[in-house]
Amino acid sequence: MNKFKNTFYSHDVVKSQFPIFDKNDIIYLDSAASSQKPRSVLSSINEVYSNNYANIHRGVYKLSQTATDMYEDAREIVRKFVNAESVKEIIFVRGATEAINLVASTVAEINISEGDEIILSRLEHHSNIVPWQIMAKKNKAIIKVAESDENGDVSFESIFKMVTPKTKFISVTHISNAIGSILPVKDICKEAKSRGILTLIDGCQAAPLLEVDVQDIGCDFYVFSGHKTYGPTGIGVLYGREDVLNEAPPYQGGGDMIDKVTFKETTYAGLPSKFEAGTPNIVGAIGLGSALTWMQNIGINNINEHSRKVVNEGLNILESINGIKIIGKPINRGGVISFIYKDIHSHDLGTLLNSYNIAVRTGHHCAQPTMERYKVSSTVRASVGYYNNKEDFEALAEGILKVSKVFENV
Ligand SMILES: Cc1ncc(COP(=O)(O)O)c(C=O)c1O
Repeated sequence: MNKFKNTFYSHDVVKSQFPIFDKNDIIYLDSAASSQKPRSVLSSINEVYSNNYANIHRGVYKLSQTATDMYEDAREIVRKFVNAESVKEIIFVRGATEAINLVASTVAEINISEGDEIILSRLEHHSNIVPWQIMAKKNKAIIKVAESDENGDVSFESIFKMVTPKTKFISVTHISNAIGSILPVKDICKEAKSRGILTLIDGCQAAPLLEVDVQDIGCDFYVFSGHKTYGPTGIGVLYGREDVLNEAPPYQGGGDMIDKVTFKETTYAGLPSKFEAGTPNIVGAIGLGSALTWMQNIGINNINEHSRKVVNEGLNILESINGIKIIGKPINRGGVISFIYKDIHSHDLGTLLNSYNIAVRTGHHCAQPTMERYKVSSTVRASVGYYNNKEDFEALAEGILKVSKVFENV
């Protein structure tokens, strides 16, 4: 059941809410890297800095209290967005990368010891690999990898095949940023819970696209970045189960995360402050709140439906081009299509597409193990936001054919 309002806006109306498209004649197919920002988000950022800005939490004057309220209201918006039980479970961080590092270096630190195992999937972004490697090296733990199949799916079975009594943590992506596969996270978390294994879901590519309900998924942690959910950069979210976060040591020390400081001993603040040392990204959090509100007003189910339609149309268009090979054909796909074209290097293809005002991402997409699995060093990735439509993929196809001609004439 959709818990959001479902005001339907036509596609043109939606696109006109993004000032970037007024000023740039661009086919933007790179939302998996970062989405563009609607006017309401830009206005809210301007509004805070212009009218309501002060440092938060300890100010006794009105402006500081207003800014504090706006920051904490944003936390409540996030809580509702992911359906967490309590705002204590919502930690503002810089982004998904910081959230995963936080979990790996605090929660995992006290839950993982020598010989214990952490399971990741083949399809992880480097952000969900490297923090675990650093932690595993320190704790003498072992990282195990659940493989994806030929199509690019990571099954429930491939995860639990790896589980042993030593498995303490499963950390997997909700949607692969490199090839678009949607993982069966609810099944994974349910089974993990029954075996006493902690779970983290990297929701970077899912939060902009799917209704996220952390209680329904049953994960212990869920992370995402604001800049991919139509919000500002430098802000992200760690959802963590209150009892697990309560037990974990702090991530960083500093102002705001303490209860009492003496040179002999310091006691820490409760959640969520314990994990938000120092002046946070106040305006970023407020901007993120506006972005999630914008998404809720559109209706997550409308965003999802539209993206699915555009991605399917895009796939059909790209597959009809001779010489294109789609990398990854998962059963359930998010907003991402990865491909290679003839023997043209993806960087060359991307660079030439840029000359036709088409923005796609090229390279390994911070997912080198995924590239290795599908025997490519890089791909071209087209990814969609709510502002894209079929015409964008038609323009991409036209661009690819023009590039092909350039190479024929070389
Ligand atoms: C699946 C996934 N995880 C993690 C990240 C890292 O996000 P950030 O760089 O915003 O911390 C990304 C960014 O591309 C991603 O797509």
